[in-house]
Amino acid sequence: MDETYRQIRMRAREILKEMPEPLFYSKQKEAVAFSRLLFKESKPVQVLIHHLESEFEEDFGHGFFHSEKVAVEAGAIVHIERGKNSKTEEIVFKAHVAGLLHDTMRKHPDHAEKGACYAEELLPGFAFSLETVQEIAYAIRLHEAFKTCTITPPSGKDAPLLSKALYDADKFRWGPDNFSHTVWDMVSYAKIPLPLFMSHYPKGLKGIEKIKETFRTPTGKLYGPDFIRIGLAVGQKLHTVILEEFSPTCRGMASFPPAP
Ligand SMILES: [Fe+2]
Ligand SMILES: [Fe+2]
Repeated sequence: MDETYRQIRMRAREILKEMPEPLFYSKQKEAVAFSRLLFKESKPVQVLIHHLESEFEEDFGHGFFHSEKVAVEAGAIVHIERGKNSKTEEIVFKAHVAGLLHDTMRKHPDHAEKGACYAEELLPGFAFSLETVQEIAYAIRLHEAFKTCTITPPSGKDAPLLSKALYDADKFRWGPDNFSHTVWDMVSYAKIPLPLFMSHYPKGLKGIEKIKETFRTPTGKLYGPDFIRIGLAVGQKLHTVILEEFSPTCRGMASFPPAP
């Protein structure tokens, strides 16, 4: 990663430390802990991770940090939505697999569709039933923001909740995680110069604002906007910091857009 971005990421993480933690983690502590424990103790999940790490050199999608958080929090969401019963562990497991696989094709155009196809090819080899494969692939197909769904859900009863939970856990990442990790991985991977990054910054924050209205499960609608509010607060503070502390690096631009 470019040294300037490394320093900006460090400043972003410092700003984040001053922010409150999203409410989801305190209010739904048990569900998150339950999902995390299953994730760590599930042999099939660990085998799948091992496979993905060997296939994608520890860089699948936005990286393992992103995929694991999406997996664990999608698992927590389905647990909250369904409550505890004899089938809970089964759907939490499906959420873990969907979370791990949802961004495997992140670096390709139409990554949701390609990622779903990858899951359809991979999972039967891991002895998943056809119904489960279809449910997971459906969730991956539908996880992108601002896209209209025209796909008929598969017959598996978990498909609708699984897809909504995957979406919400993925969009939780547009909050604080965006400024601690995601955006820096993206600009670094695409080699985007800082002036160009800054020229898109206000538009980027508006996109984050818009995601607030798109959460799909009751749990996502309850806690998602809080993630986004914190992320936006970090983004706005960081905008000022970049202008004040990194402006020599940005010279060459006619003018910086003001913070929205
Ligand atoms: Fe994605
Ligand atoms: Fe994602």
